[in-house]
Amino acid sequence: MSINEQSIVCHLSDLLSKSHSPYSKVQVAAAVAYQIDGETRLAYGVNVENVSYGLTVCAERSAISAAIVDGMTSISALYVLSNQAQAISPCGACRQVVTEFMQDPAAPVLCINHSQDQRWESSIGKLLPNRFDL
Ligand code: THU
Repeated sequence: MSINEQSIVCHLSDLLSKSHSPYSKVQVAAAVAYQIDGETRLAYGVNVENVSYGLTVCAERSAISAAIVDGMTSISALYVLSNQAQAISPCGACRQVVTEFMQDPAAPVLCINHSQDQRWESSIGKLLPNRFDL
């Protein structure tokens, strides 16, 4: 199955309303693509804030957790959409967590702004050079 970026972005846009972000009001939704038995699958997540701010879970890590439950061992693409005017890119902690599952340093990391007129494409190799991995 090929991945239709437009339908992913459309679903991410719908998911923004599920973000639990009463403190920052920054809504983020993320999707990860992965393959299982030759089939491409997608898992989604949103940011989940907490009154104890440091316990907040970013959308990217939320999507990765959902994919893990489905049997994901490796992700081939990451998509991030937010309610912000500018496209936001994964935070430092998420970059390290993505490193755990994104073996290809050139795999796409796509960041899209709310009005979907800004699309910034990067990769974990660029976002976290000289990253810690074993
Ligand atoms: N956030 C994410 O979900 N992903 C990122 O990559 C950056 C930040 C969330 C965390 C917090 O709920 C809100 O955005 C503001 O920092």
